[in-house]
Amino acid sequence: MMETVVSGIRSTGKLHLGNYYGAIKNFIKMQNENRCFFFIADYHALTTHPKPDDLHGNIKQILAEYLACGIDPDKATLFVQSDVPEVSELYLLLNMNAYVGELERTASFKEKIRKHPDNINAGLLTYPVLMAADIIIHKATKVPVGKDQEQHLEMTRRFARRFNTIYGVEYFPEPDAYNFGMELIKIPGLDGSGKMGKSEGNGIFLSDTPQAIRKKVMSAVTDTGPTEKGQEMSEPVKNLFSIMDVVSQKEVTDHFREKYFSCEIRYGDLKKQLAEDLIVSLTPIREKLNEILADNKYLARVVKEGGEKARESAARTVREVREIIGYRPF
Ligand code: TYM
Repeated sequence: MMETVVSGIRSTGKLHLGNYYGAIKNFIKMQNENRCFFFIADYHALTTHPKPDDLHGNIKQILAEYLACGIDPDKATLFVQSDVPEVSELYLLLNMNAYVGELERTASFKEKIRKHPDNINAGLLTYPVLMAADIIIHKATKVPVGKDQEQHLEMTRRFARRFNTIYGVEYFPEPDAYNFGMELIKIPGLDGSGKMGKSEGNGIFLSDTPQAIRKKVMSAVTDTGPTEKGQEMSEPVKNLFSIMDVVSQKEVTDHFREKYFSCEIRYGDLKKQLAEDLIVSLTPIREKLNEILADNKYLARVVKEGGEKARESAARTVREVREIIGYRPF
């Protein structure tokens, strides 16, 4: 069945392995057979107060990274969120029926309060409402995302359902968080715990050079090694295997698991192999990225065309929503 697919990535730093395996790989698979909208969430990026030059530079970087990974602007609509101001109108309208209590209970909001108590702005509180607007403005049915976005998707469904109930319509579909044929995934960081992130200092970026990759992987956290056969893995070692599961061949991961469980593993060997496998996967992306970054004309054309297509779709929804709500011509 042809789905309408929407997903975005915040422009707050370079893309890392988590973004690639959690989201972009699905975008690439889905773009061939569906109506796809992929965007750069540069309104969301404002919650962290970027300087104007950094905001622009980050948008350009993510755009080029999308293209370098294989998003085809002739198949998918690739655009910048702020080129579609209709989304901010839908955000305003949805905010009227989003309750402060439910927003305050969002896990990502609570985490932000803990990590950045000096910058708890209203944009952070209503972040899931803007995200819902991004998604339902194109009447999406599937949203390819990583595990960390699951709760936001539940909220999107709730806001869509609430709108339909309040106005007695079947207007917005309830979109599902999606990963091609499997569970949503979380790629861990190299620091032993938690997920890989843009600003946690625990990531491999798609633009990292082979030297940088080797250095990061070789200094990843491990433990002192298994002491008895069949011993359960510690969190940091499990994490290295999780990364290996997505980048290396199955025979390779099987080999190292066997070595682990028979207490013969040398983490140095595992890391060397992992670094080389990462380099093989990422080198073509990095090389293409450098070419695309140098071609401003191409980038300008992509966002212009993508923005126009996304706006057309968004404007239709906002027009219909205004009518449903009761904004009518005299
Ligand atoms: P962001 O920019 O943090 O991440 C972009 C995508 O990458 C996934 N991801 C991961 N997946 C697996 N393991 C990881 N370690 C990992 N880190 C990130 C995320 O799940 C996401 O799919 N709020 C969103 C951006 C957004 C959006 C939207 C997404 C704005 N509007 C509408 C979908 C639909 C965000 O900050 O993602």
